[in-house]
Amino acid sequence: MTRRVLVFDTTLRDGEQSPGFSMNLAEKITLGRQLARLGVDVIEAGFPVASDGDFASVREIAREVRGPVIAGLARAVPADIDRCWDAVRHAARPRIHTFIATSDIHIEKKFGSTRDEILARAIEAVRYARGLCPDVEFSAEDAFRSDWDYLCRVVEAAIAAGATTINIPDTVGYAIPSEFGGLIRTIRERVPNIDRAVLSVHCHNDLGLAVANSLAAIQNGAGQVECTVNGIGERAGNASLEEVAMALKTRPALFLATTGVRTEEITRTSRLLVSITGIDVQPNKAIVGRNAFAHESGIHQDGVLKDARTYEIMTPESVGLTTAHLVLGKHSGRHAFSKRLETLGYELTKEQVASAFVRFKDLCDKKKEIFDEDLAALVEEEILAVPEVWGLEQLQTTSGTRAIPTATVVLRRGEETFQDSATGDGPVDAAYKAVDRITGLSGRLLTYAIKVAFEDRELAARAASTDIVESSVRAYLAAINRLLASTPGRPPAGDGPAAP
Ligand code: KIV
Ligand code: ZN
Repeated sequence: MTRRVLVFDTTLRDGEQSPGFSMNLAEKITLGRQLARLGVDVIEAGFPVASDGDFASVREIAREVRGPVIAGLARAVPADIDRCWDAVRHAARPRIHTFIATSDIHIEKKFGSTRDEILARAIEAVRYARGLCPDVEFSAEDAFRSDWDYLCRVVEAAIAAGATTINIPDTVGYAIPSEFGGLIRTIRERVPNIDRAVLSVHCHNDLGLAVANSLAAIQNGAGQVECTVNGIGERAGNASLEEVAMALKTRPALFLATTGVRTEEITRTSRLLVSITGIDVQPNKAIVGRNAFAHESGIHQDGVLKDARTYEIMTPESVGLTTAHLVLGKHSGRHAFSKRLETLGYELTKEQVASAFVRFKDLCDKKKEIFDEDLAALVEEEILAVPEVWGLEQLQTTSGTRAIPTATVVLRRGEETFQDSATGDGPVDAAYKAVDRITGLSGRLLTYAIKVAFEDRELAARAASTDIVESSVRAYLAAINRLLASTPGRPPAGDGPAAP
């Protein structure tokens, strides 16, 4: 009989905490809404005790996103659990997810503790959390490298203390599928009260086996799988949501398990994450990579034209990759435009529709055919737009093999304009230095794809212009504006000299 496996999405927690993937509040809420549309069962919205920003985003997602259970992470200490509860309690269905490590290496080296003490702390934490919230998940961090007898004792005690979900992480991505499946089978066989909780798995991808291990766990009875969109997460990432969901959908007779994921939303969710973080997926990534459904060789193309099933085990449509069809044009009115957005699943305010419509009309002047993809990009820019603190007014650069690269930049902040000049290693460097002199901020250019760091905060941004220098400066300003939008306390300006 086919059973339903729960999908626990941790893109906003395990995914967001990895370098380069940080998101601001508006971005998290937008992604949270899309995850709900995708049909995940649980959204882990963050780690509330980590910072005030994390707390606020978990609380806002709990308030705003309806449908899935909203979980927050907490170490096995009362202060963390209290903070987590304060954030998630606003959800229609809140969950406290508390964890403590159970492997000897973590117990001895990280905590300087003993197995008995850790067992007692796990019990206390679960009991405490259950006093606040009826839905409590307990994770035994580094479970796979733990002594399995001890792990089974911890799991049994956590369930007896009130845990409703037990999560078994392969925290360091060390397992291979046969072993990890064996661990799940062992827990099911040896823990007498295991039927009173959902048995969950959380696999990391250090050996590239996170999805394979998760599937092996499902074959051995796991009832919940923890994963992330595009497989982002600590180090090499977590199990990729889209790969797990499509494996179950493509091989139903093998797994006898389904998920509630609306797979037609997969491509849109993946692209939304890319547009928020500025970090693309590799072209050959399964399910969502640019080449995942592209057939290059003549023999393959010939086969696909005769019957797509010769080389395709899933249809592009099943993951929401539609052959883009023309939807609207320059004669379309506002009503048709907003109706189409509704069909695409966007919930925009009246003001956002009005402003998106103006940009849609501008786009119609430049581009004859407007596809759903264009609308999605346009609307996402609208929803995700951060307030523009600094805008580019004018830019002039000189460079050449014999000239010292020099840039003069005029920026606008509100009604005021500011001008400065600088020299540098090249025109882009000179222009950035001039921007730094005006804004008082100082970013290091990390890659040419415009990923800059302000102190320890990495931000990605893009801009398009046929002038490479102008494009770079616009992207750099977009990164500055994102930085200012995500750190509300930061003063918006270092007051550079005013423009004449
Ligand atoms: O990888 C891990 O062990 C975790 C836990 C906190 C669930 O992320
Ligand atoms: Zn993890």
